Amino acid sequence: MKISKVVEQIPPSGIRVFFDLVLGMKDVISLGVGEPDFVTPWNIRERAIYSLEEGYTSYTSNKGLFELRQAISKYLKRRYGLEYDPEDEILVTVGVSEAFDLAMRALVDRSDEVLIPEPSYVSYGPITTLCYGRPVFIKTSPENGFKVTPKEIDKYCSRKTKAIVLNYPNNPTGASYSKKELKAIAAKAAKDNIIVVSDEIYGDLTYDFGHTPFATLPRMKERTVYLNGFSKAFAMTGWRIGYACGPRDIIAAMTKVHQYTMMCVSITSQMAAQEALANGERSVREMKREYRRRREFVISRLNEMGLACHKPEGAFYAFPSIKTSGLSSMEFARELLKKEKVAVVPGTAFGESGEGYARISYATGFDKLKEALARIERFLQSLKGGAAC
Ligand SMILES: Cc1ncc(COP(=O)(O)O)c(C=O)c1O
Repeated sequence: MKISKVVEQIPPSGIRVFFDLVLGMKDVISLGVGEPDFVTPWNIRERAIYSLEEGYTSYTSNKGLFELRQAISKYLKRRYGLEYDPEDEILVTVGVSEAFDLAMRALVDRSDEVLIPEPSYVSYGPITTLCYGRPVFIKTSPENGFKVTPKEIDKYCSRKTKAIVLNYPNNPTGASYSKKELKAIAAKAAKDNIIVVSDEIYGDLTYDFGHTPFATLPRMKERTVYLNGFSKAFAMTGWRIGYACGPRDIIAAMTKVHQYTMMCVSITSQMAAQEALANGERSVREMKREYRRRREFVISRLNEMGLACHKPEGAFYAFPSIKTSGLSSMEFARELLKKEKVAVVPGTAFGESGEGYARISYATGFDKLKEALARIERFLQSLKGGAAC
């Protein structure tokens, strides 16, 4: 009754709604949550522990420890040839979650339109709404590899379009873009003066080709806010740390909001992140190798049992069509949970175009994955026999 209209209007996260059902159930195999099953590599944890022993328990600069910003700058240069000045083009944030929120708050004015390819990560639409902007969803489908094209962007672009949110590799579809595909989008962004907020949190988990940060494309650095973090590749979800890089004026505006809301990221997490960048790449490679092995297994099993699934190019999600089951996404997820105790996320948690799909996370141990897929197959067979629902 006293709640602001804009907050009342946004729905709770579809993932959380579904996982409330899982809470309290025993022996469920969860392929639901989007977080690595690995714990943070030991050297990173040890650095954090040691920093506490050394007495590092204070606030830091609002922008983040200078040494960490320097490490981020060096890492991006070494890995992608991407150059950002640690002085004023990098901001350390409470995960990509905060970085995205700050980018929207810094960029969006009332009634500005923000293009969001769909299915999309759950926060993009609601955060845009919270900034009094208007999310404009562009539906993608397996026919175009769940990718957005300049032609599609053109269809939804208007005089009010301020920005487009790109997320590749994508959550939930795993789709990513080649350099050629990105160049075509870049040309469109430049022509229509659109700012690109590029969430590349899964960039280091790209399997079949090299990841191309959007900001590395010609003349794109000046119109791109690059978001990345430690949660996924370094298995650091609980540390709540990420960063944003971009043009000085945008980073300054984001820093202003960050000063008043977060002040700074926990110093312990910042020190751990420094260690991750300095000595974590080998662990990332090892985890990535294991995700890739699981991807091959999961995709071939799903297709084999009649759930058509394109091969995801990155992240750790499979996004099969469940249309042959005759159930809606929500019914499929609910019945599967009830009958076989396997939790997947209904595709509709990621927008309307997710109807007919389910998200399966393969950031789950191999044996559990095997068992879960056997249960899904049994569930599908029971549907054919008319036993389910
Ligand atoms: C695409 C995408 N962006 C951002 C986030 C949030 O990441 P962080 O833990 O860095 O806040 C997630 C988490 O699932 C994600 O999938």
